[in-house]
Amino acid sequence: MLQKTLIILKPDAVKRGLVGKILARFEEKGIKIVAMKMVQLNREILEKHYAEHKGKPFYESLVSFMQSGPVVLAVLEGFNAIEVVRKMVGATNGREAEPGTIRGDYSMSQQNNLIHASADTSVAEREIKLFFKEDELLDYKASERIVYAKDELEKLGGG
Ligand code: CMP
Repeated sequence: MLQKTLIILKPDAVKRGLVGKILARFEEKGIKIVAMKMVQLNREILEKHYAEHKGKPFYESLVSFMQSGPVVLAVLEGFNAIEVVRKMVGATNGREAEPGTIRGDYSMSQQNNLIHASADTSVAEREIKLFFKEDELLDYKASERIVYAKDELEKLGGG
């Protein structure tokens, strides 16, 4: 299934100069960037984004960390993109994330774990709507014909 997913490159990724390296991993994999912007998030939008974590011991620290500098927001698209991107991101705690994943290779922290990625389809839909207007999502042809086989392209509706 063709899916869109939201990623947030957190303030630690921006400050450590890892934005290019992280985005390159998705581009090299064959995942398409269909929207992207750099912004300073405020408490109001973070409270909506992290509503499920309200009341947890790490919540206040997380909301403060996410406002500690600019972030890069992007919408990624591809066949089963939500699961593929989550696998590439790795486990929440950077110390436990497998080597070869983004957090496993670059993070030593549970909070400062460089990147957020949507957990499932309904979450992805909600998160994309929270951070992007409909007309900021761009529809264009990239390297799909090389990245995917013919039968896969047909399933994606692009054959
Ligand atoms: P993220 O994928 O953005 O989702 C929630 C964030 O809370 C998580 O990444 C971490 O940055 C942060 N966090 C800090 N402590 C924890 C914890 N114990 N469990 C889950 N998330 C945590």
